[in-house]
Amino acid sequence: LYVVHIAAEMAPVAKVGGLGDVVTGLSKALQKRGHHVEIIVPKYDCMQYDRMLDLRALDAVVESYFDGRLYKNKVWVGTIDGLPVFFIEPLHPDKFFWRGQFYGEHDDFRRFSFFSRAALELLFQSGKRPDIIHCHDWQTAFVAPLYWDLYAPKGLDSARICFTCHNFEYQGTAPASELASCGLDVQELNRPDRMQDNSARDRVNPVKGAVVFSNIVTTVSPTYAQEVRTAEGGKGLHSTLNLHSKKFVGILNGVDTDEWNPATDAFLEVQYSFNDLQGKAENKRAIRRQLGLSSANASKPMVGCITRLVPQKGVHLIRHALYRTLELGGQFLLLGSSPVPHIQREFEGIAKQFQNHGDIRLILKYDESLSHRIFAASDMLIIPSIFEPCGLTQMIAMRYGSIPIARKTGGLNDSVFDVDDETIPFQFRNGYTFLNADEQGANGALERAFNHYNNDPQSWQQLVHKVMNIEFSWDPSASQYEELYLRSVARARAAR
Ligand code: ADP
Ligand code: GLC
Repeated sequence: LYVVHIAAEMAPVAKVGGLGDVVTGLSKALQKRGHHVEIIVPKYDCMQYDRMLDLRALDAVVESYFDGRLYKNKVWVGTIDGLPVFFIEPLHPDKFFWRGQFYGEHDDFRRFSFFSRAALELLFQSGKRPDIIHCHDWQTAFVAPLYWDLYAPKGLDSARICFTCHNFEYQGTAPASELASCGLDVQELNRPDRMQDNSARDRVNPVKGAVVFSNIVTTVSPTYAQEVRTAEGGKGLHSTLNLHSKKFVGILNGVDTDEWNPATDAFLEVQYSFNDLQGKAENKRAIRRQLGLSSANASKPMVGCITRLVPQKGVHLIRHALYRTLELGGQFLLLGSSPVPHIQREFEGIAKQFQNHGDIRLILKYDESLSHRIFAASDMLIIPSIFEPCGLTQMIAMRYGSIPIARKTGGLNDSVFDVDDETIPFQFRNGYTFLNADEQGANGALERAFNHYNNDPQSWQQLVHKVMNIEFSWDPSASQYEELYLRSVARARAAR
């Protein structure tokens, strides 16, 4: 198959969170399975160029429609981890992707509806005819209605559209009139069975549009796929998802096992594997040194937390866990940053309060290298999310021999199984979980993990061995996507 991903993120060049990891990891896995995969992303000014090879501008510019006229786009092509990637640089006076950040701009709806249209123009004008166009999240959800309304009729009609929603919290709704800028028909689309937001008649909802207009709709874990079909979990889209349930499935993400491998990870002080855990201990010593933490008691458990600090992630429980860890005699490392100013300020206050404390550090920024080193140094990783479509850090933690302590929700529920839960076969039990999103819930799991670590080191080692050997590669998930793609393509061919 010829598969093109259109997305707002791609690791490591443009990554905010898990979306970037997924676009790269899934693409690599599909390519390994023999498919031809390309990726189209915006050319942001704040991209990380370290791993990009042979970046060059194409001679031809792509012209795309916006606000009633045509704008030129410069198109760049490069290779990332063996994947061909196209970068669109709009020559638009609003300098859509020259803002020093990926998201959070007042005109995000315009920035990404422009990009979605330009990406389709790139395919159309360069004669590319993919079998699958796979778009992700609200930023590229416009691709689905644009494709069927404007491009399929023009002859770019080889493709089936797959839409993956990584988080239904972000739907990108806007006043209906804004849809006109990228050339979509507001009258036609602002209808309850199309793109009209389910709770405001004068607003359009890109995610709803993609659910309605795509051939395949997925989200990133089976449990989350169930949750979003309920009124409590669906963020207003449960009825739409139920209506389109036949084409909607949850596929658990994988982990890019080349990227996240303690045996080869160049960011680590010492590489290690499950048969040589001395290296893990060395990473713990190193990070204590680097961050000025006490090493008086070498065996003190180290709890890590690596996350965007947004309400979804259970910010109040993270704050609670950090105090509780100190009370229990552990060390705590938080690496995270927040797009929400009051949350960022609050954690800056806590960081300051503890700046000279020997057992805790809060590092409030995005830092790829430090994230690898914390996965390696920590004994446990806490993920107390209120909801979690999939979550990658619990799986990455396990690859590095750090035991997840997670709330039972979404993808966490599909990947973390409690050590003490006798209803689950022993070989699958790999962490500590809790259900209630409150301090008691988090305490219970944290305390059980500490007891285990402190009182039965031998069985803890066995647990570490076990989790490091769990298969979290992308291949099983990629094969599920492949099956959906193939079935959809076959249906289209049969209908022709
Ligand atoms: P989400 O996509 O909701 O943020 P995921 O668990 O799916 O959550 O993915 C988060 C990804 O971003 C992981 O690869 C994690 O290591 C990374 N990450 C989160 N915060 C930071 C940070 N402050 N510095 C470095 N990496 C981070
Ligand atoms: C979103 C979700 C996260 C998921 C990631 C990748 O950011 O919040 O749970 O792992 O996308 O699919």
